[in-house]
Amino acid sequence: MVASRRPSLESTRKSVIEITATGMEAAVITRLKTTWDATSFDFLINNAGMGATVPFEQVSEELFDEFLNVHYKGVFFLTQKLLPHLNPGGGIVNISSGTTRFANPGYSVYASMKGATEILTKYWAKELGGKGLRCNVVAPGPVETDFNNAAIRSNPQMKERLASLSPLNRVGSAGDIGGVVAFLCTDEAGWINGQRIEVSGGINV
Ligand SMILES: NC(=O)c1ccc[n+]([C@@H]2O[C@H](COP(=O)([O-])OP(=O)(O)OC[C@H]3O[C@@H](n4cnc5c(N)ncnc54)[C@H](OP(=O)(O)O)[C@@H]3O)[C@@H](O)[C@H]2O)c1
Repeated sequence: MVASRRPSLESTRKSVIEITATGMEAAVITRLKTTWDATSFDFLINNAGMGATVPFEQVSEELFDEFLNVHYKGVFFLTQKLLPHLNPGGGIVNISSGTTRFANPGYSVYASMKGATEILTKYWAKELGGKGLRCNVVAPGPVETDFNNAAIRSNPQMKERLASLSPLNRVGSAGDIGGVVAFLCTDEAGWINGQRIEVSGGINV
């Protein structure tokens, strides 16, 4: 089950809900009721995010706040609001980034917010385990999406350079990431908790 600013819906074996902004609790509850006649759900995927390549010395307070709100504060408080609606046996997957492990110039704001979310995930794993919830991080490497103004897709030189950093010599696709997130939402992943799983083709290994 997916709720996002985009209207597309897809099914997974267990109900999965993807939230992309703060203040959506009521909309989520309405969607649960009208579409699935449910009042709770199994998995929350905090996926929303945007990129920008800005050298540290040029980062404005406005940009900092924007990244803070979307990548950290939104994740923190939306999850807090939706927690009562999460079913025991389910969990939370936070989407982070390979850039918390290796430094990519121009990504200081982005990566530090993602790093904060990774730490938060560990605390959730500890504090929410008693509710039967598993909390994990998926950290993608470069993926060819609309991210950062479709920087990878629209810049063949950048794509080639990033591909060369992986032993598999390519960048990631959305499917490379989605399959791992979907797996974390299955019973087979029931013993994975409090982990950061990097899905990056071994970039900068
Ligand atoms: N692509 C990469 O190379 C890469 C690498 C590492 C990590 N990631 C992470 O992967 C996640 C997904 O990114 P993607 O690659 O799929 O990028 P994408 O194609 O640009 O998708 C980003 C998603 O985030 C939503 N979003 C962006 N800004 C938002 C805002 N202010 N409020 C609410 N929703 C917002 C977008 O919603 P709309 O479509 O409605 O705008 C869209 O659904 C992000 O957390 C990103 O940081 C991506």
